[in-house]
Amino acid sequence: MLYLIGLGLAYPEDITVRGLRAVQKCERVYLEHYTSILMNSSMEELEEFYGKKITLADREMVESGCEEIMENADKVDVCFLVVGDVFGATTHTDLVLRCKQQNIPVEVIHNASVMNAAGACGLQLYNFGQTISMVFFTDSWRPDSWYDKIMENRKIGLHTLVLLDIKVKEQSIENMARGRLIYEPPRYMSIAQCCEQLLEIEETRQEKAYTPNTPCVAISRLGSNKQAFKAGTIEQLSKYDSGEPLHTLVILGRQTHELELDYILEFVDDKENFKKMVIEDQEFFKPAPWVPEEEHMSE
Ligand SMILES: C[S@@+](CC[C@H](N)C(=O)[O-])C[C@H]1O[C@@H](n2cnc3c(N)ncnc32)[C@H](O)[C@@H]1O
Repeated sequence: MLYLIGLGLAYPEDITVRGLRAVQKCERVYLEHYTSILMNSSMEELEEFYGKKITLADREMVESGCEEIMENADKVDVCFLVVGDVFGATTHTDLVLRCKQQNIPVEVIHNASVMNAAGACGLQLYNFGQTISMVFFTDSWRPDSWYDKIMENRKIGLHTLVLLDIKVKEQSIENMARGRLIYEPPRYMSIAQCCEQLLEIEETRQEKAYTPNTPCVAISRLGSNKQAFKAGTIEQLSKYDSGEPLHTLVILGRQTHELELDYILEFVDDKENFKKMVIEDQEFFKPAPWVPEEEHMSE
């Protein structure tokens, strides 16, 4: 059996009881190591907690075949651990498909994901639209396809969850060109950098999917003992020091409910100004009021 097991957000003990029992009976244990990190635990602590040796599975191992992970998983128990939930990242459905093609039985054991725990900031999960990923811009690559998704979400009033880029085990262009297996230190995007990139693309496209005054909530280290929330405009958060990773941003939709607003005001420096920004921002996408057709008016 190949077990795909969600680890939850921060602590070794966040694994479920069923997940832990499965890990303990597995012959090989892989930890997916490129879409998220378990903030309150090192790999050694995890190994001690499980009583098992762990192999780190980087992007290359998972996305170019997964052969090693699936090897004889039809005969022995193997597990693949994912921080958060197994399906909280887009890449792991592929592993399940490959197992199905090779008749390897799969069991998924779920856990909390940033995609549902983000509700801790007070915004209702029911009011979220499409999630987007913000990647690190480079001198020659500044992708902005996410902009259209924010526009779509905002037109129908929904909040946008923005997941921020993580770069683990990346090679510099020079080392790649020379075939040197030297890796850069891991990088995690901050809230300020994400907001700067948002501002840059709005400046270029000027379609007003949002403005520098659009209200947002910054969520940092969710589920850990250093969890923090900060609400402010994109402009304000472009100067916010969000501290250690991991971080996620939520761009408010235009139908923010009163109760949602009450909750996020706890995370604001200047409450009066923030309320004003929310009201102004909500006016922007308000549909034109409905006007009855003329013949109906004369009936
Ligand atoms: C691919 S996603 C989701 C990964 C994970 N499988 C899950 O279900 O939560 C990874 C991104 O989510 C965000 N993220 C994940 N865990 C987080 C946390 N505890 N606090 C804040 N942001 C988090 C970060 O932006 C991170 O780069």
